[in-house]
Amino acid sequence: MSKQLIITSALPYANGPLHFGHLLEHVQTDIWVRTNKLLKKDCIYLCASDAHGTPVMMKAESEKLKPEDLVNKITSEHEKTLRSFFIDHDNYFTTHSEENKKYSELIFQRSKDKNLVEIKTIEQFYDEVKGLFLADRYVQGTCPSCRAKDQYGDNCEKCGAKYEATDLINPISIFSGETPSIKQSEHLFFDLSKQKEKILDWINGTDLQDAVKNKLKEWFKEGLKPWDISRDEPYFGFPIPGYPKKYFYVWLDAPIGYIATLENYLSKNSSKSAENLWNDSDIYHFIGKDIMNFHTLFWPALLDAANFKKPSNVFVHGFMTLNGKKMSKSKQNFLLIDDYLNILNPDYMRYFLASKLSCGVDDLDLDLLDFQKKVNTDLVGKFVNIASRSQGFLKQFNNILSSNLDEELLKKFIDKDKVIFDLYIERNYSKAIKEIMSLADMANQYIDSNKPWVLNKESANSDKVHSIASTAINLFRILNLYLEPVIPKTSSQIKKYLKCQDNIEDISSFLKNREINTFKPLITRIEDSEIEELMKVSKNG
Ligand code: 2FM
Ligand code: ZN
Repeated sequence: MSKQLIITSALPYANGPLHFGHLLEHVQTDIWVRTNKLLKKDCIYLCASDAHGTPVMMKAESEKLKPEDLVNKITSEHEKTLRSFFIDHDNYFTTHSEENKKYSELIFQRSKDKNLVEIKTIEQFYDEVKGLFLADRYVQGTCPSCRAKDQYGDNCEKCGAKYEATDLINPISIFSGETPSIKQSEHLFFDLSKQKEKILDWINGTDLQDAVKNKLKEWFKEGLKPWDISRDEPYFGFPIPGYPKKYFYVWLDAPIGYIATLENYLSKNSSKSAENLWNDSDIYHFIGKDIMNFHTLFWPALLDAANFKKPSNVFVHGFMTLNGKKMSKSKQNFLLIDDYLNILNPDYMRYFLASKLSCGVDDLDLDLLDFQKKVNTDLVGKFVNIASRSQGFLKQFNNILSSNLDEELLKKFIDKDKVIFDLYIERNYSKAIKEIMSLADMANQYIDSNKPWVLNKESANSDKVHSIASTAINLFRILNLYLEPVIPKTSSQIKKYLKCQDNIEDISSFLKNREINTFKPLITRIEDSEIEELMKVSKNG
């Protein structure tokens, strides 16, 4: 029997609404999960809110909420948004849970038992007004290298210089606007360098993308530094047992949230233990390239330290740009998933993203005009067009399909089954879509060259017309099965229209001599006005 697959998308922070960067990743993962499930693989798709850390704590403060309440509110909003996009998680949980506390403490304890945790004193900026230690991104000042103003405490956006926060000229806290003091504090560090061989073994035994391997090589060259896994109070997170006033850094408990989410899922669905199932499964994480170090260095090192199975792969994708530019709220180039949902059908965007996604780490541009063109040309103009131009001819046969089909042509379509599903499994969705659209072109050419509208003028051609339209509907059904992981809602509406709930494994059973429903326009063209509306909301940030 094939192994259980555990598949995850990165856990979105619970401090604001989901944007298109999140959507790209969830659609990419969801298509992969749906494909695997259609191929009868046993999959559990997990995600959760990433609940802890300073940004969530500050957001709760600004909304006058307890962080727990903010997290609960945002978690249900995220879940609703993703569901509306037909992202079909088996469990959507939160890292602020008893399950996650238990596993964070366990993994920390096992790391400590292996002598992988050390204590060091560090110096950090401290906001005296807020009573808060300041991470690099909470300090701004003048770049010590090029003198650009308003740069963050880790690197300069203007000249690219990397520096310590304490090197900034005229530093100020972004919270109080005051000059911070420098304070010492004891922190706990996970000694990554002691895990070097284990990480290397994992890298060598895993089919990582080339770009990921190259990045890892760079990091190894720079040397593996100890990783600071603690934060001082006040902090929204789990207290570290035995270390008063210290909390686990959010990035320690966030990936452990994958295991905790599994445990929560199992508590509702099975008597198996999460640790056992995790260790018996193949684990796949989908992430963006910005969080590669956490998933390909720290995470395998931690899992290894705690005797948990390491990921079978980490699939990294690029960033999403909007109309050719970086997505940025402040630069008024930003699209929220909910804003899109108020305007257009989710399957349109799922299709567009799939048509652009490859297995590489390249950035993906959402050019709204390109999006409109792609959907109108492919989904409406090629795919649904096969049904809409054939259905009229079936009315004279009471919507009953002929038993006389062009089986040779149908077989050609079915023969692409493996190629297309292999491309999905390789996450080469754009190539899969190309294959499917070239079949859609073939189907349209079949109708064009047979000219049923001409044949239909003479009743003697009735059988021929019946056969052509019925063959076209069968071709449409096959393409629908191919597109199912990408456009699940439309696909299920089409199955209702065809009165046929078959899945990909039934691809070879043709629809013959049976009734289908009366055709209703399944999807319609994206209008210019809808694109204008999208442009407008993306400028509101
Ligand atoms: O970068 C982020 O948005 C993080 N919240 C992702 C966490 S993924 C996992 F490790 F929890
Ligand atoms: Zn600079």
